[in-house]
Amino acid sequence: MNRRPTPPPPAGTHRNLLTDRPELYELRFPDPESTAARWAEAMLRAHGAGPEVLDLGCGTGRDAGWLHRVAGRTVTGLDSSPEMIAHARARHPGPAYHIGDMRDFTLPGRFDAVLCLDSALLHCHTNEDLDALFGRIRRHLRPGGLLVAEMRNGAFFLGRTELLDAPRLDSITHEGITLTSRTVLWIDHAAQLLRRTRSWAGDDGAPPVEQHSAWRLLFPQELRHLLAHHGFTVLALHDRPGPRTDPPWTDDVGAAGTGDTPCTPGTPDSADGDRLHLVARLEPPARKGS
Ligand SMILES: C[S@@+](CC[C@H](N)C(=O)[O-])C[C@H]1O[C@@H](n2cnc3c(N)ncnc32)[C@H](O)[C@@H]1O
Repeated sequence: MNRRPTPPPPAGTHRNLLTDRPELYELRFPDPESTAARWAEAMLRAHGAGPEVLDLGCGTGRDAGWLHRVAGRTVTGLDSSPEMIAHARARHPGPAYHIGDMRDFTLPGRFDAVLCLDSALLHCHTNEDLDALFGRIRRHLRPGGLLVAEMRNGAFFLGRTELLDAPRLDSITHEGITLTSRTVLWIDHAAQLLRRTRSWAGDDGAPPVEQHSAWRLLFPQELRHLLAHHGFTVLALHDRPGPRTDPPWTDDVGAAGTGDTPCTPGTPDSADGDRLHLVARLEPPARKGS
């Protein structure tokens, strides 16, 4: 397992190359078949979501753009990165895009569903961040509205070190320059965070850049508890095929990943893999006297 590197600088003193340069993000994490957006649409349809969707941590806007263009939904995207939002407006037009913090935003109206894809939710690191996020989601959903999320699975790391054992090297070529990244992951057990140090070096002679990121490691039962606390019923929570599993979800495996049958509420499901897939419904407020 990697030895724990020097702690990262405080939040805000570093930036993320892939978030700052969205065209590199799409190059590094291609999704040519729009699998993430198609998976999200399948979940929305399977659970009868209405047309108005909010994509939190929408990144480059490619999922929001697809949902607008192909699925005909009315989509709003929100992301804290001005560069991501500028890219989304230019390259994936149609949705309304806003720069904002998912823990502290107010948008007009309410939505039928909120999406939080590719671990965007795990950028809420503390319990207070998560409470703030779920409070914002609740405030922006119509009663009966859906939360559809897809993220790393904290439980995957129980007894496994395969993602932690050795640095990972990757490279991308953009505009004639090859950028090589060296990624080290380690677990900050007290904060329950998966931390990442990534160094980028280009073959253009520019000085290397070191960047730090972290994701909250959420466990399935912890997520269920948080959701229940904030008034949600979990409809599906599992590690079955999704947009970033290997093999990935395809249209033929249906809404819940096994046949066409959606998960049965309350049925225990497998959560052993490295991705968790969540569908939850905001329960209407209980009537007075009931
Ligand atoms: C891994 S990317 C996922 C982007 C997109 N959902 C996708 O699936 O391609 C995470 C995104 O969350 C955004 N983000 C991180 N913290 C945020 C926050 N507090 N509020 C809003 N967006 C945030 C980042 O700027 C980044 O675009």
